[in-house]
Amino acid sequence: MPQKSNADHKSREGLPDVKLQKNEIKTLMQNYALPYRELMSYYRCAMMEVETKFNVLNEELSLQYDRNPIETIKTRLKSPESILEKLHRKNHPVTVDSIERNLNDIAGVRVICAFPSDIYQLEEAFLKQDDIRLVERKDYIANPKPNGYRSLHLIVEIPIFLHDHKRLMRVEVQFRTISMDWWASLEHKIRYKKGLQESDHVDQELFECAQMSAELDSRMEKLQHFVGDLYE
Ligand code: GTP
Ligand code: MG
Repeated sequence: MPQKSNADHKSREGLPDVKLQKNEIKTLMQNYALPYRELMSYYRCAMMEVETKFNVLNEELSLQYDRNPIETIKTRLKSPESILEKLHRKNHPVTVDSIERNLNDIAGVRVICAFPSDIYQLEEAFLKQDDIRLVERKDYIANPKPNGYRSLHLIVEIPIFLHDHKRLMRVEVQFRTISMDWWASLEHKIRYKKGLQESDHVDQELFECAQMSAELDSRMEKLQHFVGDLYE
């Protein structure tokens, strides 16, 4: 069973004026307290559904291959501060409707896999399920970001079944290997260190570390195939 962590993988962006935000959060909460809490609760349900789907796949595939393709599943609900920051940045209205209509990453599920091929196998098995609709796909493993970031991102729509109706909710799923996740976590810590000025040296070092992590993934995957062949 993969280890579960609720660690919040926070938004990368800096936050705007703190005082303004506190007032706005208060207004959002006062005007929309119940609808906001309701919406967040629906997103939590959607994350549970997605997490369960991956736990089921992990269980089944581990019997087939004698090892777990999933190392860890992390879930996080976007914080009110990050939601406000993103609504502002994208010039969307600050209402509960607008959150649901305009933001795709309120519910986030991160699936950390052992090997890169596990990612694509899990993706295929997940997207084949007839209650999942793919909204958007970004493959930063086949096409890494210029800074070296690698990960497979999906936005999917999944139904949650409430006592009297069904609701379709959007969830962002990020697939990474241990090595991709290790790089992204450290890059986030280093780059968003308070007061860090833009630095070509830091960028270059991070990029080279990303390449080394990609090389490690590829060597480990080859080793895994080699050992697999020995025992076939
Ligand atoms: P926003 O969601 O508006 O930020 O833009 P987008 O939808 O184009 O984002 P994208 O799908 O590229 O990335 C969304 C998430 O991926 C971020 O919130 C991070 O969790 C992660 N991410 C993307 N790029 C980087 C990166 O360069 N470094 C790290 N550490 N994480 C990243
Ligand atoms: Mg996004």
